[in-house]
Amino acid sequence: MPAKLPSDIADLLLAWYDLNARRLPWRSPPGAPRADPYRVWLSEIMLQQTTVATVRPRFEEFVARWPDVESLASASDADLMAAWAGLGYYARARNLIACARAVVAAGGHFPATEEGLRTLPGVGAYTAAAIAAIAFGERAVVVDANVARVVARLFAITAPLPGAMPEVRAATESITPDARSGDFAQAMMDLGSAICTPRNPSCLICPLAPSCRAFASGDPESFPEKKAKAAKPQRYGTIFWAERDGQVLLVRRPPKGLLGGMLALPTGPWSPAPPGLEDPPIAADWTMRDGTVAHVFTHFRLELALAVARAEAHSNAGEWWPIADIESAGLPTVFAKAASAIRRAE
Ligand code: ADE
Repeated sequence: MPAKLPSDIADLLLAWYDLNARRLPWRSPPGAPRADPYRVWLSEIMLQQTTVATVRPRFEEFVARWPDVESLASASDADLMAAWAGLGYYARARNLIACARAVVAAGGHFPATEEGLRTLPGVGAYTAAAIAAIAFGERAVVVDANVARVVARLFAITAPLPGAMPEVRAATESITPDARSGDFAQAMMDLGSAICTPRNPSCLICPLAPSCRAFASGDPESFPEKKAKAAKPQRYGTIFWAERDGQVLLVRRPPKGLLGGMLALPTGPWSPAPPGLEDPPIAADWTMRDGTVAHVFTHFRLELALAVARAEAHSNAGEWWPIADIESAGLPTVFAKAASAIRRAE
């Protein structure tokens, strides 16, 4: 069990937040009425694996186009997948549509409890807690990566993460206040992002330093212990750029799996060694271009060679897209990189 800390931790943190909260488009200011659950849900899904800086403009675009859960639920899958392009982790976009439709089918209101929120597609333990606290004021325990670091330092938890998560959650629970739980969660996030940073934390301006055991230890940065990351395996593939009358052949990827459901350039297999011209989308006179496009996914690195061909007859192997308008196809980043590399070389 974590040792007891002064009970005024939440008060100190909230007083700091009142003056220093980041102004973010999905938030209401400290102490103000709670933000719209739709905006809180959308932002939390976007922020799951993407930084605040990247999310901010994309969130603004989304809410301008789909201002409420009803409009999002009636968007087409293709429009939504294209709007998500570049944010990565595309299962989130598929779940986003499913979740919006489930909420609308159930009457148009998000469940107001952590438990109810957990039943929605794409809403896991962390996200349910965050929405329950921020949008509904429930006293939920919200622990993302920033919060875990802050708490591991406050309590000088020595066990490495993620194994220490139960201990970190119990410690977070012990300092979560009954009131303003949404502000408290976001204050912890802001403190972790601005002050209690992974390297060189700014302890001298931290409102919690007097209560922080890692600060008292003299080496706050050593908490939490970091496990060495396993090296990512390398895979190789080939992108096939088939061109005809100013158009390029695109394919919709299968709904499940990596980049699932996204419009993409055709590829052959992704293998431990370069597969060359294996498995092209159409029969044509393919030639390899110099250079490759590299991309890092969560579990592997991918290097893609580029093969080009002029397509002769009409083929319905996919969708022909005007090359001059390729930016509006909503391609995932790896294919957008390949398209620019090929167009630059032309
Ligand atoms: N990361 C996840 N949720 C967040 C929020 N509400 N504010 C800032 N960063 C976040």
